[in-house]
Amino acid sequence: MLGPSTVVFFTLLAAASVEASHFRGGTISCTPDMDNMDLVHCNYRMGWRLSSNAGECDQFAIDNNVLMGGEGTWDTPIGRVPASFYCTDFSEQEDWQQGVNSLTVNLRDANVTTTNGTTDTYTISFDGCCWITVIRPGNGTHDPDWQVTTQFDMSRRADTGRPNSSPITASSAIYRVQSSCDDVIRIPTEDSDGDTVKCYYSSVFAECGEACDPLPFSQLNEDTCEITYNTTHGELTPGWYAIALTIEDYPPGAAGTAGSGLSRVPVQFLVNAYTSNTPCSLKPQLVGRTPEAGDRVVIPAGGVYHAVLEAEAASPGASIVEISTVSPHGMIKSDLVTDPDMPHRASVNITWSPTLAQLGQHIFCFRAQDSNMENSDQRCMTLVYIGTHDVDECMDNNGNCSHACVNTAGSYHCACPGGMVLSQEDNKECEDIDECARNPELCHDNAECINTYGSYICECDVGYVGDGTVCRIDVDECANGTHGCHEHAHCIDLPGSHELHL
Ligand SMILES: *[C@@H]1O[C@H](CO)[C@@H](O)[C@H](O)[C@H]1NC(C)=O
Ligand SMILES: *[C@@H]1O[C@H](CO)[C@@H](O)[C@H](O)[C@H]1NC(C)=O
Ligand SMILES: *[C@@H]1O[C@H](CO)[C@@H](O)[C@H](O)[C@H]1NC(C)=O
Ligand SMILES: *[C@@H]1O[C@H](CO)[C@@H](O)[C@H](O)[C@H]1NC(C)=O
Ligand SMILES: *[C@@H]1O[C@H](CO)[C@@H](O)[C@H](O)[C@H]1NC(C)=O
Ligand SMILES: *[C@@H]1O[C@H](CO)[C@@H](O)[C@H](O)[C@H]1NC(C)=O
Ligand SMILES: *[C@@H]1O[C@H](CO)[C@@H](O)[C@H](O)[C@H]1NC(C)=O
Repeated sequence: MLGPSTVVFFTLLAAASVEASHFRGGTISCTPDMDNMDLVHCNYRMGWRLSSNAGECDQFAIDNNVLMGGEGTWDTPIGRVPASFYCTDFSEQEDWQQGVNSLTVNLRDANVTTTNGTTDTYTISFDGCCWITVIRPGNGTHDPDWQVTTQFDMSRRADTGRPNSSPITASSAIYRVQSSCDDVIRIPTEDSDGDTVKCYYSSVFAECGEACDPLPFSQLNEDTCEITYNTTHGELTPGWYAIALTIEDYPPGAAGTAGSGLSRVPVQFLVNAYTSNTPCSLKPQLVGRTPEAGDRVVIPAGGVYHAVLEAEAASPGASIVEISTVSPHGMIKSDLVTDPDMPHRASVNITWSPTLAQLGQHIFCFRAQDSNMENSDQRCMTLVYIGTHDVDECMDNNGNCSHACVNTAGSYHCACPGGMVLSQEDNKECEDIDECARNPELCHDNAECINTYGSYICECDVGYVGDGTVCRIDVDECANGTHGCHEHAHCIDLPGSHELHL
């Protein structure tokens, strides 16, 4: 029956979907609380058209930490949570804004205990309509619904004794690609557990909504998370492309295959293909004191991060008009200042004083645009805030760990090599996994499973031969007369063969 509350619900939905074509991608990644294993903290970033119902980011909003309303809600295991955000970045040139926020879920309050009755896997998602009008393979267009979903597992990892932390990533809302020029879009990733990270195109509605098409004429390197656009395969039709990737993490040494990751983190953004007469070699460049791609900077207790981002236009007569960023919450970018002696050169100052709530890794990306709307390559780096009282516990007797000790911001944990697990009692001692007890199917029915340090052996029972996973009856060749021994020799049956004794 449709009650009054149902009617209100539908009215709200209609209001929310009035404004179309304003979504500019996003990401979300969850990390278990250091001290309380029922809590998980999820950090998200989302992008919108600069002027949209979600709010409008400007320098005042960034400088004053204004909370923007956002639009819609995250669907979490404890119900719906508003998708509000604090502005971090915006581009007037490219008409986008981005912001970040975090939500904390107490899994004790989770209505749905698990999405899979046998594991501690949870999902958090955000959906709505619409992306901007985007081009589909074959040149058709549509205004796709968006769907941003993360999946995480709160069960205790055998190798670290803690639940897994999802990898983190960051992306500009928009990448501009000149149709006639080869280009590479590099998506940065970090994983605080030191796991291997891989990227895939999202392909199911629950993860990419209606925007699941790969970028044409390009290849995704799953290991490096780089999309290489190659014009020898064809040129992009000018217009917009919505890209949805899923990032997975795997324990060190595990075979990383799509779908088998410890967690799934979405990253979505737009690619804008355009035509221009500017030669491909005349893109603006990041120069001077600008940090290098892949730099890692550790910020100590109470520290402030300062950087200068400098860029030069390469086209004759062009100037730098914007240096756009993808920043952590609270980072301040100065106005762009053009070098009075070199009008093609300009810079911004960056200042960041991380708060205690920002312990750990953060990705920071930047690129420059010139007055022809050409883009430099993007660079991304990692900032690690180690907080007020970080002590490297591993320096003290290896943290009392029997094997590896991993220091983290504000804490530490022990880790074990493959084939061993952390003792449930103290989370410090690595114990051999008794593979035989854990999985009775490992060896053949007619074999014995022998546990060894870090591994196991299957040995066929007496009267059988084989490698232990396959054992067949050892035929007594002596008895059945096919041994070929001289009639006065002894014939001794050996597993799988026979031997002569004269
Ligand atoms: C919990 O789940 C049930 C069944 O899906 C649903 O009817 C109920 O509204 C949910 N409660 C909350 C607080 O989300
Ligand atoms: C639940 O998880 C187990 C173990 O990962 C898996 O084998 C099973 O297929 C999953 N079931 C469903 C319904 O997803
Ligand atoms: C798509 O449009 C471009 C021109 O913008 C054209 O070169 C290309 O052949 C078209 N592709 C298809 C599959 O129609
Ligand atoms: C583009 O593709 C061609 C043909 O497959 C290949 O030879 C070339 O190396 C590629 N270029 C880049 C930059 O990947
Ligand atoms: C950056 O800071 C330095 C030192 O305070 C100052 O001299 C310079 O003008 C600033 N540059 C910009 C682009 O604001
Ligand atoms: C290691 O064990 C000693 C003795 O029990 C204890 O004093 C010390 O705090 C422990 N160190 C760590 C890092 O847990
Ligand atoms: C002897 O054993 C072999 C190997 O299993 C078998 O191929 C052969 O038929 C047997 N011969 C007799 C006489 O039983």
